[in-house]
Amino acid sequence: MKIGVLTGGGDCPGLNAVIRAIVKTASLKYGCRVTGIEEGFEGLKTPVKTRLLTPWTIRGILPIGGTILGTTSGRKPQQIKKLAGDGKPINFSKVVKENMEMLELSCLISIGGDGTMGIAKSLHDDGIPIIGVPKTIDNDIPGTDRTFGFQTAVNTATEALDKLHTTAESHHRVIVVEVMGRYGGWIALEAGISGGADVILIPEIPFQIEHICKTIIKRYEQGSRFSIVIVAEGAKAAGGSRSVIQANKGRSVERLGGIGNQVGEAIAGMTDMDVRVTVLGHLQRGGSPTPFDRLLATRFGAEAVNLVAQKRFGEMVCLRGNEIKSIPLAKATRKVKCVPSHGALVKTAEGLGISFGRD
Ligand code: F6P
Repeated sequence: MKIGVLTGGGDCPGLNAVIRAIVKTASLKYGCRVTGIEEGFEGLKTPVKTRLLTPWTIRGILPIGGTILGTTSGRKPQQIKKLAGDGKPINFSKVVKENMEMLELSCLISIGGDGTMGIAKSLHDDGIPIIGVPKTIDNDIPGTDRTFGFQTAVNTATEALDKLHTTAESHHRVIVVEVMGRYGGWIALEAGISGGADVILIPEIPFQIEHICKTIIKRYEQGSRFSIVIVAEGAKAAGGSRSVIQANKGRSVERLGGIGNQVGEAIAGMTDMDVRVTVLGHLQRGGSPTPFDRLLATRFGAEAVNLVAQKRFGEMVCLRGNEIKSIPLAKATRKVKCVPSHGALVKTAEGLGISFGRD
């Protein structure tokens, strides 16, 4: 048996750890061969882009960020499926089937986020044997408690908050930190609590700038002459709209960003405080995966191969509590997993006096 493996969507720390686990488990436990598909699903179009993956060729990749297979992001799934290199429409499932036959692949393991899982599901619906492995720093895929890459991103954002605290305090400033997460506030929430932010703004809880300023002024009057505000890129004011750098049109997905500066300007306008804004951006996608993410990625990769061996195609591996399980791809492609706006974590934070910009 030969398994094809690909990574799609935005990269994140831990992708190489999954690839390694798949190759090692396939080869050592089941005696299967593995072919790497380069550039996500693009690599399965004609001409195919592949590389041989063996325990020898993947040595040393466990701690390395990014993906040795390359990936494509920022493109809509329907565009990836529709267009050949020359821009002409294709029957994507037919092309994938033909190229899998040519490469002698029995099945595929597709590692990716919501877009990649959506493509995997439609290929499975068309009869292609495929298993999904969820990844993303955003932690927003339904059906899994955690995606790998998320904890490393939270680490990076928390370290940034630690560093920004000392300069904010020295200069008696408000520092606004914008983090990624797309339509979910998971990175802002977990890094905000871990890094001791005073205000956390997330898409799930529309904020009122007056409440944010009230928190900052109260802290000042009580002797804390600085404040740290962490804001998720998808956050928005009550009654307002998300801040978008590039609209969702044509071949590209919507790109978020700019809310940090808007919040910073509003705070500066409503208080006498000196305000600075830091946008962490793609720093959150890089670096070596944390041990938690390496372990999760390794467990996901090994389980994906176990599912292949059991011919349980159309499933996505997932984490439930501390157990690795699987769910139908259909359940993982519904809508994004959001932070419960009155959930335990938000309540814990509010109990600590952290403001979400609401009453
Ligand atoms: O989904 C991961 C993510 O980093 C989001 O948090 C962010 O909105 C987006 O990807 C950025 O995408 P790109 O790398 O295409 O700019």
